[in-house]
Amino acid sequence: MAHISASVYTSHVPAIGAALDLGKSSEPYWQPLFKGYEYSKQWLKDNTPDVIFLVYNDHATAFSLDFIPTFAIGCAAEFQPADEGWGPRPVPKVQGHPELASHIAQSVIQQDFDLTIVNKMDVDHGLTVPLSLMCGQPSAWPCPVIPFAVNVVQYPIPSGNRCFQLGRAIQRAIQSFDEPLNVQIWGTGGMSHQLQGPRAGLINKEFDARFMDLLIASPEEAAAIPHINYVREAGSEGIELVMWLIARGAMADVNGGAPVELLHRFYHVPASNTAVGHAILKNN
Ligand code: DHB
Ligand code: FE
Repeated sequence: MAHISASVYTSHVPAIGAALDLGKSSEPYWQPLFKGYEYSKQWLKDNTPDVIFLVYNDHATAFSLDFIPTFAIGCAAEFQPADEGWGPRPVPKVQGHPELASHIAQSVIQQDFDLTIVNKMDVDHGLTVPLSLMCGQPSAWPCPVIPFAVNVVQYPIPSGNRCFQLGRAIQRAIQSFDEPLNVQIWGTGGMSHQLQGPRAGLINKEFDARFMDLLIASPEEAAAIPHINYVREAGSEGIELVMWLIARGAMADVNGGAPVELLHRFYHVPASNTAVGHAILKNN
């Protein structure tokens, strides 16, 4: 049977992708940020899974604002980097895993979570920047990736608790796939940031630290944070953090298994308008 070996949490700031693509990653502004991912890049090389289940949000790129699925699973064999206005990022195309993705869709829908099935989709910075942070600039991504898009762009968006429960359903789905695949689940987006309005530029280090503490040690408490608290304390785009709860809900300790192990934790301000957070949790 397939199993989940680890979860990875990371921000997805588009300017990070641009810094890499334009060869600026060793500039003084960016150097401390990329340093925080050095451990993670080596760890991923040493622990490359068979598949990454990557929870992210589309930024009105693939879906525009005409159609906004709450939860969408990418079942295609491949996904092209999206053109977000400056041409597609010069990164490898993403190979999918249609068999596992279809199985997860079947299982999770039967567990009463309605997923939109996506058979063709370009993937934006929400997915490609986490891959770049964790893998650098390879000629191909190290393994197949199942994109799982969550609406955090237009209200109503799913609650933290619904995301957490969905993660639990995804864990059951993966564990019932009849092939011995090693799967990592990544939760991306965040941390505190607000891109528009009078509070544009808002960063809340205290909120971010508390969120990471809770996510790691008391995930049910993190899942109970209501939307209004994210918006008030972490800014309008801080709500992207609910996606981390999907990955956290898929870990063994919250599904009757052994405690998880914190392998790495990193936090840095600034990156563009955003606080960057990152953690790796391992199942034992
Ligand atoms: C920025 C951050 C985001 O999460 C995003 O999707 C777009 C822009 C920023 O900090 O500039
Ligand atoms: Fe974003």
